[in-house]
Amino acid sequence: MKVIVTKNYAESCKFVADHIVNLVNKDPKVKLGLATGGTAEPIYTEIVKLYNEKKVDFSQVTTVNLDEYVGAKPDNEISYRYYMNHWLFDHINIDKNNTYVANGLNNIDDEIKLFNEKLYGDKQVAFQLLGVGVSGHIGFNESGDKLTAGVHIEDLQQSTIDANARYFDSPDDVPRKAFTMGVGDIMRAKSVLLIATGDSKINVMREILTNDSVTTKVPATLLKLHADSTVVVDEDLARKCGYLK
Ligand code: F6R
Repeated sequence: MKVIVTKNYAESCKFVADHIVNLVNKDPKVKLGLATGGTAEPIYTEIVKLYNEKKVDFSQVTTVNLDEYVGAKPDNEISYRYYMNHWLFDHINIDKNNTYVANGLNNIDDEIKLFNEKLYGDKQVAFQLLGVGVSGHIGFNESGDKLTAGVHIEDLQQSTIDANARYFDSPDDVPRKAFTMGVGDIMRAKSVLLIATGDSKINVMREILTNDSVTTKVPATLLKLHADSTVVVDEDLARKCGYLK
């Protein structure tokens, strides 16, 4: 696992945006795995900026997103489809037919089948972007005694519900279940990159960056097993979690 320590979060986002743009420029038909969440928002803003500067062309790119709340209407602003359109897809020349975010309203079995087709129907996901939850989740794979390899419905833990309540009128409105890629799906991407910032991620980053353990209690530690994984973290968090002395 490669670790990149940046001066600050803005620099982390610039680094990740440049990396994604470079991947697209190298292979205009690349298949990207994308993430939502607060951490990723400035990355997408930076990608839109590079697109407006004519540094990249998304017309042949395909994307698959990590997860979506069960029950979320795609055009409702709490959905991850809405998030992706709002932060990225509406501002670049990607063909939305080539983008996949699970449909939270669809029949569960049908949607899991479709999710798998989108992941494995043609080429391999070349790059998977990841944030990390305070519970250590990647996608919505929550910590526990065991993890699930394939696409499935995950029950969200209280810490995730609490962290995501900021997007809802009340914590009671946060959906309790989500479609998510499993950890095996994430690990099958050719390369994976996790970005983290902020004090709420100190404990989880300590587990990822300061020892050699892999544990289902902190799913993000699985990235230590991936042949091409990168963690991007700013100096502040790197110090607070004990990675930098
Ligand atoms: C989002 C996702 C989640 C988030 C994680 C961090 O698609 O899969 O794993 O990346 O919950 O969220 P933020 O960035 O809001 O702290």
